[in-house]
Amino acid sequence: MSQANGNSRGFWASRMGFVLAASGSAVGLGNVWKFPYIVGENGGGAFVLVYLVCIFVIGLPIMLAEFTLGRKTQLSPVGAFRTLAPKGPWVGVGYMGVLCGFLILSFYGVVGGWTLAYIVKSLTQAINFASPKEAGAFFGSFISNTGEVTFYHALFMALCVGIVYKGVHGGIEKACDVLMPTLVIFLLLLMGRALTLPGAMEGVRFYLLPDFGKITPNVVLIAMGQAFFSLSLGMGAMLTYGSYLPEKENLTSSTVYVVLFDTFIALMMGMVVFPAVFAMGLEPMEGPGLVFSVLPAVFSSMPLGGLVSVIFFVLLAIAALTSGISLLEVVVSWFIDQWGWNRSKAVLFSGGIIFAFGVPSGLSFGLLADAKLMGMTFFDHVDNIASNYLLPLGGMLTAIFVGWVWGPKAAQAEIEKHETEFHWAAVWAFLIRYVSPAAVACVFLAKFI
Ligand code: TRP
Repeated sequence: MSQANGNSRGFWASRMGFVLAASGSAVGLGNVWKFPYIVGENGGGAFVLVYLVCIFVIGLPIMLAEFTLGRKTQLSPVGAFRTLAPKGPWVGVGYMGVLCGFLILSFYGVVGGWTLAYIVKSLTQAINFASPKEAGAFFGSFISNTGEVTFYHALFMALCVGIVYKGVHGGIEKACDVLMPTLVIFLLLLMGRALTLPGAMEGVRFYLLPDFGKITPNVVLIAMGQAFFSLSLGMGAMLTYGSYLPEKENLTSSTVYVVLFDTFIALMMGMVVFPAVFAMGLEPMEGPGLVFSVLPAVFSSMPLGGLVSVIFFVLLAIAALTSGISLLEVVVSWFIDQWGWNRSKAVLFSGGIIFAFGVPSGLSFGLLADAKLMGMTFFDHVDNIASNYLLPLGGMLTAIFVGWVWGPKAAQAEIEKHETEFHWAAVWAFLIRYVSPAAVACVFLAKFI
């Protein structure tokens, strides 16, 4: 494939830049906000184990498949599938990705807004609580405040729009270089604090000791959905990032770095949250508010807690932004490719409608809290449909496409271009042809029967 179109599309400046940008997409609210609360809701250690199996057996092979599809075609999802399979239904997988990016960003932007609000609240020293109960009540009243939530939601979306509008490469690559390592140092410091709180070991036990009685088909479905969500898989985001890769870069080791980094951050976050939850006498089943009520309580018990709180929420907001832009980019590139729009029109329009669709998610904790359908709010439904159904389905179809339609041999040729041999080719082909599709299918079947 020629790189003649390279100048207009843009390329990652270095492999480090690519790995960090892909990690920037992967590491986000999924690791820091979602992972701890769904571990809490789904039984602790047993869930963590199932999650790890999903990451390495299903997620890792599919990430390599997405990178390879992107680099081969140098196109975003709709174009990539259309190029490799001009006839037939496969282009639908690309469209599904666009829909999924739309749905995920609509509620992701709400939570991104919460992180921005907490930066401001930390700066004005409102994040200083005598007890975790107080922190929880403060959070509860914040997320039910229609005006405030919608304002910060809009602000987060405006930041995403601003970055994607200008094009991301230089800025994002450079920002991630500094920010990702800083995030790690902060998590280590927080972990030190959390683990030394009295009563912390109870939380470590909940987090690490599996109770296999708690594994149900639904728990496995949620673990698998979370693996796709956290690795940014199943909707072509990684495919799009792979399309900005020059041919000489090593796809396999890049994949392994991104997967390990993402998993490490999520696991470490659990080591911060659960010791703190139990030490503070809170319930791990708290749901989406878990991180926002527990951590501020921990900060308040630390020396320089106010400062730590500011820095932590800044990092969280940045992690959310680097993921948010990857979601927006998929939708935007579709408007550009399919409708022939220019970038600015595409960015402003998609940013606007995604924000509008997200407003009811933002109100799901206040004004619309009682407007439940089958026991779940609007926010829960959008998250559930996109994360637990569309992403695994998209991932399964991507695996089937690479495994059976495009073919592992063709993929291997792309992977080995300019590279040493792909030693794990046979294992990967097996995983992508049989294991990933069968695993997703089984989980779906078990869930419905
Ligand atoms: N992976 C990100 C997180 O963990 C969210 C995200 C960004 C995402 N891009 C994606 C999820 C694409 C699914 C698909 O927060």
